Amino acid sequence: MGRPKVYVTRQIVPPWLDYLKEMCDVELNPLEDAPPRKVLLEKVKDKDALLCMLTDKIDAELFDAAPNLVVVGTHSVGFEHIDVPEATRRGIYITYTPGVLTDATADFTWALILASARRLAEGDRYVRAGKWKVGWAPTMFLGAKVSGRTLGIIGLGRIGQAVAKRAKGFDMRILYYDVIRARPEVEKEAGATFVPLEQLLKESDFVSLHVPLTNETRHMINEKTLKMMKPTAFLINTSRGAVVDEAALARALGEKWIAGAGLDVFEKEPLPMDSPLLNFENVTLAPHIASADIDARSKMSELVVKDIIAVLKGEMPKALVNPEVQKVRSLSQVRRI
Ligand code: GLV
Repeated sequence: MGRPKVYVTRQIVPPWLDYLKEMCDVELNPLEDAPPRKVLLEKVKDKDALLCMLTDKIDAELFDAAPNLVVVGTHSVGFEHIDVPEATRRGIYITYTPGVLTDATADFTWALILASARRLAEGDRYVRAGKWKVGWAPTMFLGAKVSGRTLGIIGLGRIGQAVAKRAKGFDMRILYYDVIRARPEVEKEAGATFVPLEQLLKESDFVSLHVPLTNETRHMINEKTLKMMKPTAFLINTSRGAVVDEAALARALGEKWIAGAGLDVFEKEPLPMDSPLLNFENVTLAPHIASADIDARSKMSELVVKDIIAVLKGEMPKALVNPEVQKVRSLSQVRRI
């Protein structure tokens, strides 16, 4: 046993990189952006572990390039960028960061709900552009009421539940849809009523997405489902961009099938400057920052680092995506420290 080699694809929140360096030989991508694919494939060649981001594609090609790799820790709760079955087949442990970003993401979802309904970003642009000439007027910047309205949550997992909890303070009626109905105690705690997707879309004033990106959820918000929403309703997305068919959303906004949207995630990130979404005043845009409060991001860095070290020590990590990997290669077999 010696010092395992770890490649880290992006700077993480201090002091967690130093913590990793205490036990491992760490190589950090010096760029602000993700390492280019070629560089990533080169860098993992001699590494025992990889600390990656949701912007790094982790697939069979990468595993082929990294014969010593035993653990990949992603600094994210989403792991659709990782070919998990392929990792499991090869005995590679995959860890992620659930739980520690739940509150941050739910808080930000609410920021988008309120900002979209009450036209906050639009108002900010108005003030900065020097367009605010009339001090106050009863009809100025009229927005949509939030309190007492109906919130439709698609995906009642950890984050969906935390969004529901916050909605209680706004006296909202809470509907939810999920592929698997939540346990009665979860529904009760969330104050959320299970309804079919179509009913949720038809009755909600705010539709908020909290599903992982899978083959089933890709483009689940499309022309057909957008047309089911009320013309006064808002779509809020802090999950993954590709859950929404963005071309259909642009049509929905242009043709006023819905009232507006609050978006933190996009099919292509960064959002291309020719995206039609940039043309709409009634869309609040954010650069994929829902989990970006200092507390959550530092806990994400801590969790991913500690879990990588756990696997390298042959110990059970806290947040393992693929527990079945232990049948392929036991923790004592992956031990490097
Ligand atoms: C962010 O989008 C994450 O998956 O953590």
